[in-house]
Amino acid sequence: MVKHDVASLRLAGEGRRRIEWAAKSMPVVATIRERLARTRPLRGVKMSCCLHVTSETANLLVTLRDGGADVRLCASNPLSTQDDVAASLVRHSGIPVFAVNGENRQRYYRHIDEAIAHHPAVTIDDGADLVSTLHSRRRELLPGIVGGTEETTTGVIRLRSMEKAGVLAYPIVAVNDSQTKFMFDNRYGTGQSSLDGILRATNLLFAGSTLVVCGYGWCGRGVAMKARGLGANIIVTEVNPVRALEARMDGFRVMRLVDACREGDVYVTVTGDINVIDRQHLVAMKDGAIICNSGHFDTEINKVALAALTRSKRELRRSCVEHTLRSGRHIILLAEGRLVNLAAAEGHPAMVMDMSFANQALAVEYLLGNRGKLEPRVYKLPDGIDARIATLKLRTMGTTIDKLTPEQAAYISSWQSGT
Ligand SMILES: NC(=O)c1ccc[n+]([C@@H]2O[C@H](COP(=O)([O-])OP(=O)(O)OC[C@H]3O[C@@H](n4cnc5c(N)ncnc54)[C@H](O)[C@@H]3O)[C@@H](O)[C@H]2O)c1
Repeated sequence: MVKHDVASLRLAGEGRRRIEWAAKSMPVVATIRERLARTRPLRGVKMSCCLHVTSETANLLVTLRDGGADVRLCASNPLSTQDDVAASLVRHSGIPVFAVNGENRQRYYRHIDEAIAHHPAVTIDDGADLVSTLHSRRRELLPGIVGGTEETTTGVIRLRSMEKAGVLAYPIVAVNDSQTKFMFDNRYGTGQSSLDGILRATNLLFAGSTLVVCGYGWCGRGVAMKARGLGANIIVTEVNPVRALEARMDGFRVMRLVDACREGDVYVTVTGDINVIDRQHLVAMKDGAIICNSGHFDTEINKVALAALTRSKRELRRSCVEHTLRSGRHIILLAEGRLVNLAAAEGHPAMVMDMSFANQALAVEYLLGNRGKLEPRVYKLPDGIDARIATLKLRTMGTTIDKLTPEQAAYISSWQSGT
């Protein structure tokens, strides 16, 4: 048995069935897997992956392994690991996995160390915890790294800040910045799965409820759009005037969070920021307000302020804790303020992760194909790769689109024709 630290290998059978179920909705990744297995371009390449350990991630990992890669996996969040999937990857795929749902901070970082101990040539990260660990505590491994990929908005922001400070030691492809990633995964994936997390934790009726969405980025747009579909009244809060204007013209009410606190029944933060729901908001919310976060880190709700205001707390349901405040009012915190879609539900549906992970697999190939040619900077995948993924996805959905005629191609790229 390969080296591992998972909750229980007895869960492997259930994990395998769920991985196979996800695979049915991941035809683009399957096409890439079939090609990589035939050509083995990743032969012998050591990869350390820090990702949410879900059934979709399992399909990416076996794709890379079939391409010849020697992969190791740890979790990118202490609460997002699906223990049955982790067990199946170890037992059925022979992949070393270090991830246990509910692990504390110390064990979380010990698991990152285990993934790094592999001496990777490629890193695959979600949130940049693995990359920042390498740059702070394991610097001796940096010269051996060809490149890395980053899955999410917050990770890309951290890496760009490392690049700007001149400390990034190797090239990284920002998978998040591909159109076939952020327009679908962040919007439709986070939109649907965040509501799924709220529903599983509360069994709330959205129809008629007032839902406050903090942040109208790609994720926030998705949450607002899907909740409207279920009949909720939506309030959006923003700090960016263009995004706020867009929310207004999309038909949502827009106001300051402190004003929204008089009305909101449920609050979802999706900003990537810190203390968005702060003490002043917690004290202004209605009795029984439900708060949760779907941004990458559990920094968006000021949990220290909530703890200071709390007289007692009790778990009402799984991922649903009621805080009784000293004032006598109640605030319900879901999933400890961590990604509600992954901690209280199963994360994004495989149908969107198909595109995100197609980008991941092709980004790894791109990095290896350009070995020695890239600088230690954050790169976007070439537009051609995005278009290829979209074309493949459409084909698997049975959709055919028109092609430019030679006349049209010449016309839309010229300046001569006018009125
Ligand atoms: N839950 C998931 O599975 C999942 C999936 C993808 C991304 N994410 C994470 O979700 C977060 C948002 O990602 P995104 O792609 O939507 O980013 P984005 O940059 O497109 O949008 C974030 C928005 O939040 C706004 N904002 C910042 N501070 C704010 C504040 N104090 N109040 C109100 N609005 C504020 C910004 O102006 C911006 O419009 C990131 O942390 C990202 O990593 C989570």
